[in-house]
Amino acid sequence: MSNNQNLSAWQRFYQRMTKAHELGKEEDIMTDHNYDGIRELDNVLPPWWVWGFVITVLISIFYYVKIFTGDYNQEQEYITEMEQGEKEVAAFIKQDKIDNPDKYANRTTAYTDAENLAKGKDLFTSKTCFACHLNDLGGSIGPNLTDNKWVLGGGFTNVFNTITKGGRPGKGMVAWETSVTKKEREQLTSYIISMQGTTPANPKAPEGDIEWSK
Ligand code: HEC
Repeated sequence: MSNNQNLSAWQRFYQRMTKAHELGKEEDIMTDHNYDGIRELDNVLPPWWVWGFVITVLISIFYYVKIFTGDYNQEQEYITEMEQGEKEVAAFIKQDKIDNPDKYANRTTAYTDAENLAKGKDLFTSKTCFACHLNDLGGSIGPNLTDNKWVLGGGFTNVFNTITKGGRPGKGMVAWETSVTKKEREQLTSYIISMQGTTPANPKAPEGDIEWSK
């Protein structure tokens, strides 16, 4: 290190941070540890590493004090941010519905709450669906609606479309678009989806090649 004067500021800093032992003088710091011919040098811990360690310790003390004595609470921060996020999404959708009504005109709502499902069940009787599909959806003229085989496709969107537009021509499943409101069709669809996997008294054999589980 005698030629320190000739080194740039960066090189001097680099040397100070590594304290690397000069390669030619390694014998000076050779220990007598010898593992199958691999020998060990008694190097000092590089100052950059020591400083990194000291800084993490200081940061941990800072966080320890802040978390256990201050009013900072990670869980509360998460809840607050989620609530804020939900508000922003709701506000965005509200405005978007005003700005782009077309985008929402064709959207459907699937219900899972007891009230709407009960409404769907009532409609299944009052709109005469039961006449061809039976009250437990086991099927007679129309197919069984509880199994995972579908003629026209399962899942909310397909079932809603079938009820809206009807089945294949001449099969007997008419389009209910004009006689059943959109909300009622959503309730009917939700009810049918909720009945997936139930066991009717006299289930009609599965029809259709489209397999669809709930
Ligand atoms: C006159 C008899 C009849 C009535 C009433 C009827 N359906 Fe159907 N339904 C059928 C037939 C037949 C099919 C099969 C259509 C096809 O093969 O294209 C069908 C198919 C369906 C399907 C599709 C099944 C599949 O496998 O893809 C759904 C869902 C459905 N009906 C729901 C209803 C609902 C809800 C109502 C009451 C609003 C209703 N149906 C009323 C006869 C009827």
